[in-house]
Amino acid sequence: MLKNMRKITLVALAVSAIIGVGGIANASSETYNIKRHDWPQAGPFGKYDKASLQRGLQVYKEVCSACHSLNLVAFRDLKALGYSKPQIKAFAAGYDFPDGVDDNGDPKTRIGKPFDYFPAPFASEQEARDANNGALPPDFSLMAKSREHLSLFTPWDSVYGEDYIVGILTTFHDTPPKGYKLPAGTYYNETFPGNNIGMPPPLSDGLVEYADGTKATVEQMAEDVASFMSWAAEPKMEERKEMGLKVIIFMTILTILLYFVNKSVWRKIKKGDDLIEKDDESA
Ligand code: HEC
Repeated sequence: MLKNMRKITLVALAVSAIIGVGGIANASSETYNIKRHDWPQAGPFGKYDKASLQRGLQVYKEVCSACHSLNLVAFRDLKALGYSKPQIKAFAAGYDFPDGVDDNGDPKTRIGKPFDYFPAPFASEQEARDANNGALPPDFSLMAKSREHLSLFTPWDSVYGEDYIVGILTTFHDTPPKGYKLPAGTYYNETFPGNNIGMPPPLSDGLVEYADGTKATVEQMAEDVASFMSWAAEPKMEERKEMGLKVIIFMTILTILLYFVNKSVWRKIKKGDDLIEKDDESA
């Protein structure tokens, strides 16, 4: 009894220690308050809302791509957003790419093809910084994943990539709180660590006109572009979840089968033992 009590106390101590350490490690994220959203892509059965991804692509193309690159996404990848091949071809053709030089040595261009990747807005990091007061607009390809902090032991401290992005886009303040010295060339943002972001507020109500007629509020555009960035960071998410589900179903069936096989094998072995005992008795 006493031994058991000691064991239980030890386990309880270990669990609270782990939770405690997790809490301390995440304490910095408590200084800003990131609103949670219900994302259709969240959870083990989550799937992207294709209409929202298409709207997010429109926001990226018309607004964010002036400063942020999307280096790891090719036009042909947009098939996953529900576009047909001719639509992707037309989309790609809207971009120009350098194509060597002509006979006079002048640079030539060609129109984009589905296999091309989204072109970067700046030729180099230096050029990007020069255009943004020294701040570097980070590439979007993996941002939704790299800003995510998932805490297994203190899930309430978790920050989801999409929520962080919506947070950045929707928590600008025209004037910083009293006593806060905003460095020159930065903007007050509740979500950005340190609250001084080098990006001017990129969204305003009605900034884009959605092809599907959805009202383009700041919140709506922020959610759509965040979903789009989440897809860009993990285009194979739906396949991964489907595969996980198949594996779990397979393992469940296998477990049930093995249970009955195990039972039947031992029944036979026991029967064999009984026969041997009977033999011994009769001998
Ligand atoms: C005028 C240029 C410009 C435009 C347009 C722009 N950004 Fe930015 N963005 C920046 C810069 C510069 C930074 C880096 C800020 C810093 O490090 O202080 C940044 C940072 C960010 C961050 C924070 C990244 C981090 O490090 O955590 C997010 C999220 C973001 N941008 C999203 C967007 C989205 C979404 C759009 C389109 C709706 C957009 N940006 C449009 C210049 C821009």
